[in-house]
Amino acid sequence: ALDLLRPQDLEGRRVLISAGGTREPLDPVRYLGNRSSGRQGVALAEAARSRGAAVTLVAAHLEVPAPAGVVVERVGTAREIEASLRAHAASHDTIIMAAAVADFRPRAVAEEKIKKDASEGGLSLELERTPDIIAGLSEHRAPGQRIVGFAAETASDEDALLALGAAKARRKGVDLLVLNRVGWAEGFGTEDNAVIVLDATGVELARVAGDKLSVAHRILDVIP
Ligand code: CTP
Ligand code: CA
Repeated sequence: ALDLLRPQDLEGRRVLISAGGTREPLDPVRYLGNRSSGRQGVALAEAARSRGAAVTLVAAHLEVPAPAGVVVERVGTAREIEASLRAHAASHDTIIMAAAVADFRPRAVAEEKIKKDASEGGLSLELERTPDIIAGLSEHRAPGQRIVGFAAETASDEDALLALGAAKARRKGVDLLVLNRVGWAEGFGTEDNAVIVLDATGVELARVAGDKLSVAHRILDVIP
């Protein structure tokens, strides 16, 4: 019902959003994962849809339901999220990369469950780097396509946070970088969020705090 009151300012836009966290299998029963719940990405999908956009949500292990009215593609690993985003990128004018993608995955996946008795003194895992998906997408972007990245940092103070964010915005080739501070107690699985939005050069554009749906709307407001 609230949607009727919303300006349909994203009518005609096609927005591709990734959300959640990838899991990289170690063996048939275990994985390396992260603490992303997918809430902020899902809120962005909901907000964009309510403003008239056609939304495709690439969802990795969401802890919350996907919103109604969006096309959902379920993925698990960094490889799968990359394949899905690449397949959909060209048909969307805006890409928002809210998913937490594994930076490393086990170099080899064990075919059988790893047994503890074979490793009395402990176990070392050999990990390999995953590709930087957003950097690849921004390298091959279509003319006029907007790309929004996220960065969650455990910076000690705000200056350090802004410095890390600015460097990342430039390195990734994104139009916007949504920056937030995370720690053991902050940033994950919560209803609220507090973010700083940086432009492509690392300059601060907006500061937003509140529930994840209002933060989503404010992020959409500053996408060019
Ligand atoms: N990202 C990506 N592919 C990866 C890792 C991250 O596309 N393999 C995206 C994330 O979805 C996010 C942005 O890059 O939008 C920043 O992610 P982040 O983890 O903060 O940056 P990294 O470049 O992975 O650097 P680091 O984790 O070392 O800080
Ligand atoms: Ca990372």
